[in-house]
Amino acid sequence: MTEELLHTARSAAANSQALNDPDFPLFHLAPPVGRLNDPNGLIEVEGTYHAFFQYTPTHPQKLVFWGHATSTDLTSWEHHDPAIAPDSRFDMHGAYSGTAIATPQGVELWYTGNYKDPDTGQREATQCLVTTPDLTHFTKEATPVIPAPPEGYTAHFRDPQVWQDHDSSYRMLIGAQRADGTGAAVLYRSLDLRQWELEGEISFPHAGGAFDSFGYMWECPNLVKLVDQETGALRDVLLFCPQGIRPQAPGFENVFACVYLVGELVGTQFVGCDGTFTELDRGFEFYAPQVFARSLSQLPTGDSPAPAVLLGWAGNAGEDDQPSIASGGWVHCMTSPRELVLRGGRLYQRPFLPGLPLRAADWGGTTLQPGAPFSVPELAGSRSWRLRLEVGASAPWRIHLGGEQGVSLRFDGATLVADRSSSRYPAGSPRTVELAAAPHAVEVIHDRSITEVFVDDGRTVFTLRSFLDATPGVRVDCEGDLALRAAQVARAD
Ligand code: FRU
Repeated sequence: MTEELLHTARSAAANSQALNDPDFPLFHLAPPVGRLNDPNGLIEVEGTYHAFFQYTPTHPQKLVFWGHATSTDLTSWEHHDPAIAPDSRFDMHGAYSGTAIATPQGVELWYTGNYKDPDTGQREATQCLVTTPDLTHFTKEATPVIPAPPEGYTAHFRDPQVWQDHDSSYRMLIGAQRADGTGAAVLYRSLDLRQWELEGEISFPHAGGAFDSFGYMWECPNLVKLVDQETGALRDVLLFCPQGIRPQAPGFENVFACVYLVGELVGTQFVGCDGTFTELDRGFEFYAPQVFARSLSQLPTGDSPAPAVLLGWAGNAGEDDQPSIASGGWVHCMTSPRELVLRGGRLYQRPFLPGLPLRAADWGGTTLQPGAPFSVPELAGSRSWRLRLEVGASAPWRIHLGGEQGVSLRFDGATLVADRSSSRYPAGSPRTVELAAAPHAVEVIHDRSITEVFVDDGRTVFTLRSFLDATPGVRVDCEGDLALRAAQVARAD
């Protein structure tokens, strides 16, 4: 069974046209063939970043594996055989999302087994384990470790995150749906990673009930510890994807949102969060992010805190109808890795691409005039690049990618309008994002068919798939003087 499934995955990849597709990203993680969704089991071991991911090589036939890719510079990715195949009774309808934890014996991959009764459609969700001594050989435990959701929850119970707490016990956080149809996140505790005791739901004592009935299911909860650089306080940041929320606030235009809360997890109480939640990324495509696992010694309180590096899925549930299916037999990719920084209770996301460093451009320090579009000389002919501008603008200005069938990013005072309506993937009407102020710095990362915009050091981030025409390069134009105080570029092709 396992061999058969692996053979199916290998031969789909061997026949793939993805690498010949001009839209296939050069430095973003994308599937060798078929469909990719959530990042899973992100972990760095001895300088190598391992990214597992939801992988359906036979798309549109549903057969969900954990794909596996590695990188040392986070820009070139090497693909390996899938690490988990949906080859047992409990995960045959999908080896669903989860996380990795390093142990003295190697690495453990925790995930959700998805089973759907073929007659009744009834779902069963189990929390399952694969161990690996070397990240090359993977062994699945014969039976699930947590065989069923606890009393009071439906079978929408998935996406475990497992980590070690400071008292050295282990904790598991799982996305859940209560029996009454509302979303929640549930905690378990263990001393040995095998016997798990239910601790209870995360509660929010200072949130005034804001999260008591907050959507119908919370997917992919992910807890990360960060020091707030403004206050010096160690905080917990809870990222999760509540399905079915309709807040009366700007944003939240996508089918499902991903939000974060800042507080402190004490027992099962997430204290100090007053009910404020913030959308992590304002773009057309973003979901199910995860932070690379850090060990206790790498946490912010340790001696050499490792950066918290996040990877998100640049996609949305149910939006698989993209041009790359026809041109290369693949769909979706990951965002760039992003370092998370907490400042004044707000998350900043900074591109974390050691393999593609920015270099100063000598035209920084000039002023652009209206009516004279500027093509970035270093990026002429390029379809994969980074560009960072420090600006002072007296009137609206624009960054334009591609030609007629391009994408426009327009900055007008304290707003960004992203418009891909004339591109080859025009999904969604132009989107306006309110910024805190007129931006002083904008970084754009573009890689064949994905674009990420980082405004003011990543205070606001906008991810979109951008299927352009064949016109390469990037142009900047303005309706009034645009002072380019500094410019940096990097080219990947
Ligand atoms: C989020 C999600 C997870 C689930 C996985 C299945 O995109 O729905 O909740 O584990 O994708 O592929």
